[in-house]
Amino acid sequence: MIKHQIDATAATAVFDAIRGRRSASTFGPEAPSRALVEQLIEAACWAPNHHLTEPWRFIVVAGDARAGLGEAVADELLRTATTRPKAAAEAAGVRTKVRRAPVILVVAQVRTATDDVRDLEDYAACCCATQNLLVAAHAAGLATKWSTGTMAHSAAAKRFLGIDAADRIVGFVYLGVPAGEMVAGGRRSPSADATRWLGWA
Ligand SMILES: Cc1cc2nc3c(=O)[nH]c(=O)nc-3n(C[C@H](O)[C@H](O)[C@H](O)COP(=O)(O)O)c2cc1C
Repeated sequence: MIKHQIDATAATAVFDAIRGRRSASTFGPEAPSRALVEQLIEAACWAPNHHLTEPWRFIVVAGDARAGLGEAVADELLRTATTRPKAAAEAAGVRTKVRRAPVILVVAQVRTATDDVRDLEDYAACCCATQNLLVAAHAAGLATKWSTGTMAHSAAAKRFLGIDAADRIVGFVYLGVPAGEMVAGGRRSPSADATRWLGWA
């Protein structure tokens, strides 16, 4: 018989990492080591994925490449300025945003699925991978922010990153050392409010 044993220390460490992770707005200037970034990507790849499609791809953007990404998206936004009144402000925002962390880890979904159900499963798997990455980074003492917005729908961003036009940008994960002391915080409603129990003795 398999006995269900709980390793209380390991369980507490995992719960703490999940509970303690928060989206950061500011980052210190030092980049994490390449070895650590590789470890985070490894953690991401252990996400559940139906049919073992491994639909994720990772593009690590650092140094001057961040500005290149920002310019590509900003230029694209400015080309739409006649129909998009806030394009200039958005372009300026993008140029600033890409510099806020030393590393931007882009998570993309390769869209090979032949039907909507599998496509959704692949997207879900990529989101699980991203969360693995965030929690692993937090456990390693790094700060993160998962960001989407305009940039995630930018054809210019995909071209710059070498992502196929048909594929999906799941998120830009801003990654760096915390700018100051990391404070727990955040707000969630009680999980009981979101839960119903059926057939539970
Ligand atoms: C799919 C997804 C997209 C997100 N996009 C953005 C974004 O574009 N900009 C942003 O500031 N935060 C973004 N966030 C972060 C959420 O705003 C953040 O998780 C939420 O405020 C809760 O805060 P916490 O991460 O500290 O728990 C995104 C989160 C997810 C899951």
